[in-house]
Amino acid sequence: LMADEIVSVNEFQVLAKQALPKMYYDFYAGGAEDEHTLKKNVQEFQRIILLPRVLVDVSNIALSTNILGYNISAPIMIAPTAVHKLAHPEGELATARAAAACNTIMILSFSASCSVEEVAASCDAVRFFQLYVYKRREIAINLVQRAEKSGYKAIVLTSDTPRLGRREADIKNKMIVPQLKNLEGLMSAEVASDKGSNLEAYANETFDPSLCWRDIAWLKSITNLPVLIKGILTREDATKAMEVGAAGIIVSNHGGRQLDYTPATISVLEEVVQAVGRKVPVLLDGGVRRGTDVFKALALGAQAVLVGRPVIYGLAAKGEAGVRKVIHMLKDELELTMALAGCPSVKAISRSHVRTDRDRLQ
Ligand code: FNR
Repeated sequence: LMADEIVSVNEFQVLAKQALPKMYYDFYAGGAEDEHTLKKNVQEFQRIILLPRVLVDVSNIALSTNILGYNISAPIMIAPTAVHKLAHPEGELATARAAAACNTIMILSFSASCSVEEVAASCDAVRFFQLYVYKRREIAINLVQRAEKSGYKAIVLTSDTPRLGRREADIKNKMIVPQLKNLEGLMSAEVASDKGSNLEAYANETFDPSLCWRDIAWLKSITNLPVLIKGILTREDATKAMEVGAAGIIVSNHGGRQLDYTPATISVLEEVVQAVGRKVPVLLDGGVRRGTDVFKALALGAQAVLVGRPVIYGLAAKGEAGVRKVIHMLKDELELTMALAGCPSVKAISRSHVRTDRDRLQ
């Protein structure tokens, strides 16, 4: 399989597997424990059926949308994922250039292999910064201030990682995460690990498991940027996120890498959207591999989706061009889906264009 023969996003996974050392491929592709949630994220999209409307004028399809005041070319954004240099030597710089070329938003991972400043200097894409909060809170303050200074437009707090999920492939492969670029001079990645992966040991030394809802006020007090909360899966937490003043919610189970047996994100989207009640944007990630998946998420109330692994697979296979191709394929598929479903604009995509298991029960 060659990159120019690729016709769907899933095929990039095959190329990435060919291109990458097994240890890195497994790190990117894998999930926690039984990988139940990892699989469900994809499978639950497949249970949702589309209900097209015919004889709608679809000679012009408008994919563009607006997220927190920023216009993007389609409701497809780049999820924060760690250490892109393990996939491609240009790392996050290539990903960011692809985001700019596709006119979409990239969320840079805290655990990136390029610094917030390097990524900011390399492209003029709208960028958000994803934050983990370490026990040493001054590291969060440092990173948030650097992100704000370098023109990032929002902070995305990942809330599902008080400790690291148990990823057995990484343990078996003795996967070692390199020094994180954003932390250079702040702390060293050296965590004693004679047997096996340093991932878990590193995370347990660093991540602050005491982080809680009260701390959102602290986070908001150290920045002027809007704070989105990533990792919400229930209506209860969606309500709490509204109470603490989150500027947006990302429905996510971390791509099945944290708590296994959490629900597929698409299956809880609607209840989260109802709890939020249009007050702030709700985004979704996990298992988005087709334009029809994007359409389904929008029909169930998401403003946009984020794409994680497919971006890494594109990057591993073909660098910036690979990431561009992944985004373009999803956009093209979404555009065709909208035409065939009778939705000339993103706003026209409604709840009545999909049928879920819940509808069948009623
Ligand atoms: C992630 N994800 C993630 N999330 C986050 O908030 N900070 C991070 O550093 C990372 N790192 C990371 C690395 C890798 C290799 C993967 C696959 C994922 C989770 C990510 O943001 C997103 O929630 C999922 O990737 C979405 O699922 P899909 O699109 O990969 O199915």
